[in-house]
Amino acid sequence: GTTLGASAAESGRYFGTAVAANKLSDSTYVGILNREFNMVTPENEMKWDATEPSQNQFNYTNADRIVSHAQANGMRIRGHALAWHSQQPGWVQNLSGTALRQAMLNHVTQVATHYKGKIHSWDVVNEAFADGGTGARRDSNLQRTGDDWIEAAFRAARAADPGAKLCYNDYNTDGQNAKSNAVYAMVQDFKSRGVPIDCVGFQSHFNPNSPVPSDYQANLQRFANLGIDVQITELDIEGSGTAQADNYSRVIKACMAVSRCTGITVWGIRDSDSWRSSGTPLLFDASGNKKPAYTSTLNAL
Ligand code: XIL
Repeated sequence: GTTLGASAAESGRYFGTAVAANKLSDSTYVGILNREFNMVTPENEMKWDATEPSQNQFNYTNADRIVSHAQANGMRIRGHALAWHSQQPGWVQNLSGTALRQAMLNHVTQVATHYKGKIHSWDVVNEAFADGGTGARRDSNLQRTGDDWIEAAFRAARAADPGAKLCYNDYNTDGQNAKSNAVYAMVQDFKSRGVPIDCVGFQSHFNPNSPVPSDYQANLQRFANLGIDVQITELDIEGSGTAQADNYSRVIKACMAVSRCTGITVWGIRDSDSWRSSGTPLLFDASGNKKPAYTSTLNAL
């Protein structure tokens, strides 16, 4: 293929990007989006603060703009994210206990119902495990409602949209370490007890302090061996030139070598679209030109 999406499709995979609704009027941005990608993830527009700014008052305006654009251009959609400790509206931050649990479940049900039939995969729960060597859950208001909050969120999502793949998504789980071991144990437990889970997302934000792990492919494979899909969900790699191109190639080849690695999403289009305040972690430069990392990515697909 001559584009990322078409090349990924040759092996039954997708190639996606994070999209910001306020950039859909930028013709350079939209030109690259429509040419190269066949999956989109709303970068912020489906998060709790965006979709339920006041309790039980849902606002889908910006998320719907992205969904409409995707549907009009034959792209699929990763929903991101139903339950997360971050980017919560103020009213949620002020809740705890049963009231918070019920608000979370209502949020999952309402948003997944609004998008029923339109979402390829949902990040049902994002970033619920702690960094470091403990393998513990992250302390958060949601975690303090009880250890079973994650499975409760997955059951609510399945009930609302039985056709969407339901994913757990996190960072620093890209290699084998205490945090990914803990996620692995959770997935194993969910599978053994029939808690609905279909996929694990590996954010894959890489930089010199957090490089591509040497056991990246082995880690994807061990999760796939649990009988779930794996997806690379927020890929960006700080760097430039050949070194960056080689790192992108390694990540793409790892996914290609794992039959249940069903797709790759980069976290933005041009370097200037990146959430990173500085740096050049993406596949297109600020002018929209293809970087060496683009070419190595295309060649690895
Ligand atoms: C980031 C967005 O890119 C930024 O625009 C926003 O200010 C903060 O969130 N992990 C995730 C994503 O799951 O939702 C985050 O996105 C990046 C880290």
